[in-house]
Amino acid sequence: MRSAKLEIDGAVKAYGDFVALSDCSFSVGRNEIVAILGPSGCGKTTLLWSMAGLHELTSGEIRLDGVPVTGPRPEIGLVFQEANLLPWRDLDANIHFPFEITGKRPDHGLIAHLLDRVGLSGFEGAMPGTLSGGMQQRAAIVRALAQEPQVLLMDEPFGALDAFTREEMNRLVEDIWMEARTTIAFITHSIEEAVFLADRIVVLTGRPGRVSRIHEVDLPRPRTTEIMASREVFDLNAAIKAGITGGHRSGKAA
Ligand SMILES: Nc1ncnc2c1ncn2[C@@H]1O[C@H](COP(=O)(O)OP(=O)(O)OP(=O)(O)O)[C@@H](O)[C@H]1O
Ligand SMILES: [Mg+2]
Repeated sequence: MRSAKLEIDGAVKAYGDFVALSDCSFSVGRNEIVAILGPSGCGKTTLLWSMAGLHELTSGEIRLDGVPVTGPRPEIGLVFQEANLLPWRDLDANIHFPFEITGKRPDHGLIAHLLDRVGLSGFEGAMPGTLSGGMQQRAAIVRALAQEPQVLLMDEPFGALDAFTREEMNRLVEDIWMEARTTIAFITHSIEEAVFLADRIVVLTGRPGRVSRIHEVDLPRPRTTEIMASREVFDLNAAIKAGITGGHRSGKAA
């Protein structure tokens, strides 16, 4: 078992009387990729924002390297569901925006490398409105990685993309991880995406969210088309799906 980088310990979040997240506990290991899977409205964004230190828990604790996260931390990068680029700034100025806020010095060599890695070299001067959704999302990932976070949190980063672009983006994240080994936790609605990218998959129950099951994904990387078409992957997909639907539609006689 690898050592925990980020620990979610008994996380509860209520908005007034409404409990969005209830006693949620799991950890994200150092250099691990964890997918968080759960039905709409079960508190996934609420959980991720807490992990990023963007809002306070009602009870419980988030710890980074054993230290409670009580506010935004430079070690933790966040990619939102929407790319959230500033429409009046070109790509380069968008990527540099967080540096203007923190006063940190950008590593121009790293930014150029990341842009190249995601296929956006030459688009530095482009305005977000002239880029496709996938290109904007890639730029948002570059913006987050340019900060050299130890932990990258992503909230359904590819949810709005078509299946083809999504697969391409999944491979890109795998490539980037194989290069930098950044600890990653991401939210997704897609079992396939979770199985392709994650070392472990945390499945949350419906509202209020709590951990229903954690699946290990013991597959080598890079996860080739052959691996993803294997019996093992088929069975894992089926097991996760059965856990989510409660096996109601299995059609099997008891
Ligand atoms: N600021 C808020 N005030 C009150 N209720 C909120 C607030 N933010 C979220 N909620 C409620 O908490 C619950 C969980 O919301 P959250 O956005 O975390 O769900 P989610 O799992 O990310 O959903 P989705 O998959 O649709 O993105 C929802 O019922 C939502 O209405
Ligand atoms: Mg959400």
